Amino acid sequence: MKTYLVTGGAGFIGSNYIHHMFASYGDAIRIINVDALTYAGNPENLTAIADNQGYTFVHADICDKEKMTAIFAEHDIDIVVHFAAESHVDRSIIDPEVFVRTNVLGTLVLLNAARQAWEMTDGTYPPGKRFVHVSTDEVYGSLTEEGTYFYETTPYDPRSPYSASKAGADMLVRSYMETYQFPANITNCSNNYGPYQFPEKLIPLMINNALQGKKLPIYGDGLNVRDWLYVEDHVQAIDLVCEKGKLFETYNIGGHNEKKNIEIVKIILDTLGEMLPDDDERKNGINESLIEYVTDRKGHDRRYAIAPDKIKIELGWEPQTYFAEGIRRTIAWYFANADWMERVTSGEYQNYYQQVYGK
Ligand code: NAD
Ligand code: TYD
Repeated sequence: MKTYLVTGGAGFIGSNYIHHMFASYGDAIRIINVDALTYAGNPENLTAIADNQGYTFVHADICDKEKMTAIFAEHDIDIVVHFAAESHVDRSIIDPEVFVRTNVLGTLVLLNAARQAWEMTDGTYPPGKRFVHVSTDEVYGSLTEEGTYFYETTPYDPRSPYSASKAGADMLVRSYMETYQFPANITNCSNNYGPYQFPEKLIPLMINNALQGKKLPIYGDGLNVRDWLYVEDHVQAIDLVCEKGKLFETYNIGGHNEKKNIEIVKIILDTLGEMLPDDDERKNGINESLIEYVTDRKGHDRRYAIAPDKIKIELGWEPQTYFAEGIRRTIAWYFANADWMERVTSGEYQNYYQQVYGK
């Protein structure tokens, strides 16, 4: 039976991936999810599949060499899908060290554990073994001119501690492919949105604040551009890379859905207005008066935009979800999971919010 080691499966994209995999393959696969359950990891995200026969949760830090080695010794892992990371730019500006530890060192520990378990005496690997390293378009830097895009061949130019740590991890994966012919792929994806996203990121933060009648803090002039992809489309692309991706290749994942931050916030306000029932007392307060321009993020990258041509041509992947539909689904999920939001924003989140937004 095909066995996956998923790292960071209790986080946003990882949990969507695990749901997608069990929904697609049912009992035909096994998934071992290793997650340290940092502030961003939430076992509640996986309640619906926690009792699946094929699911095992291991509470561990990917930097723990012994534990990672033991997982490979205990389970015959075919595919590693490596999501675990510190993932938020603002946190990386406040405290870069943990980013280097988890994103760089953690990736190295996993590469070594997989190589040790998989490499045969002649230096080759059994067919079917694959390490998919999930990375970001932020490693390519910041675009300024409209009509320019990130390609797989774009030179790396990371500019935040987060993107620098992801770039470091990507370079290690590249070096293992070159040096040891280690069977891997790297995927570089644009900004995701959807269910289970922690409300430190733009979209869930704005939804949550608007529903609470709180100000919507827009950094700088609000004209920075991100290329938004619905998370379900991203996890489908990862599944496709695991199934059909050519080993040693990098695939950019994105959907040509560039939007300015201010546009996103206005779409959220409009969509909330449409979706909330007329008798909901929050409805009247949800309007553009909530928007507040605040001090810009340090080193704020101006624009990201992915050219997804390669994955489309080679693997036939294209995103299925228009933004108007994806944002409605996302908002509907946050409506239905108000208690989830309540729980993740109590405690540490309040300190974080105070530190970044000063209120
Ligand atoms: P997330 O912050 O929601 O989740 C990260 C998960 O990793 C959490 O469950 C956390 O507990 C776990 N984790 C953190 N440190 C760990 C450690 N030392 N050991 C084990 N587990 C640890 O992140 P996400 O948004 O789901 O992103 C997943 C991956 O996708 C990351 O590698 C990120 O760089 C990449 N990515 C994210 C986006 C995006 O828009 N969110 C876009 C492109 C790429
Ligand atoms: P974010 O969701 O943090 O993703 P990333 O920085 O990795 O692209 O931010 C998306 C964009 O939204 C980015 O340009 C910063 C901006 N932003 C705000 O204007 N206000 C906020 O409160 C946050 C969290 C982000």
